[in-house]
Amino acid sequence: MGDARIELAVIGGTGLYQLAALQDVETHQPLTRYGAPSGPIRVGTLGGRRVAFLARHGEGHSLPPHLINYRANLAALQALGAQRVLALNTVGGITERFGPRVLACPDQLIDYTWGRISTLCEVDSEGRGGGDVLHVDFGEPYTRSLRQAVIEAAREAGVAMVDSGCYGATQGPRLETRAEIARMRRDGCDLVGMTGMPEAGLARELGLDYACLAIVANWAAGAGPDPDEVITLQDVLDHVAAATGELPKLLATLLAK
Ligand code: HPA
Repeated sequence: MGDARIELAVIGGTGLYQLAALQDVETHQPLTRYGAPSGPIRVGTLGGRRVAFLARHGEGHSLPPHLINYRANLAALQALGAQRVLALNTVGGITERFGPRVLACPDQLIDYTWGRISTLCEVDSEGRGGGDVLHVDFGEPYTRSLRQAVIEAAREAGVAMVDSGCYGATQGPRLETRAEIARMRRDGCDLVGMTGMPEAGLARELGLDYACLAIVANWAAGAGPDPDEVITLQDVLDHVAAATGELPKLLATLLAK
């Protein structure tokens, strides 16, 4: 494991269960000290660079956000030799700049999740985890250099991207009420998703570089022009498919940097 350098690990979210552009793919499913990852890790080449891909919810989307073993996912990618993680997160848009199909690279987050294992030092019900109590710095939750590389790659590739924003991580798996979204807007959130935490915090604890590429799939509850809009999974998937058409180009440009 970890023989040839993996330049980038990509974690795919809702609607993103594979990287079709990956070539010469090998499959790994390492067991980590935190347990098994969500599914197989596909390692291949993209633009001549080695890339690992993992579907966060499993390739058949069988894991809800609060039951994902985020620690095992990140530890497995790290065990394979990844040092940099680009998290793809399907989100709802709250503020004006973040309508459906927008791509964004947020620079802040607020964690509203609860009851998830959110640190390496917690021992879970199967006795996994533990060790030193960690208090990592998290003032800037995403790695600045990786964010800048993503933003520059988007600019170079001609892919439109909002280069900031605050991601609010909710518990799910249900979507939010309009009052919850109104509160998140008051708190300063631009985007809402269910998987941004504890992933980002655990990446920091593991010493991994980590950035989020958020794909806006819908207006969050009550945030769009039609306040009575009902959000359907089909709309979410359609918008993700439309918004990620240029993802391979963006990743190839990022990897060439
Ligand atoms: N809320 C939370 N998570 C999401 C949403 C949303 O509106 N859309 C896609 N993921």
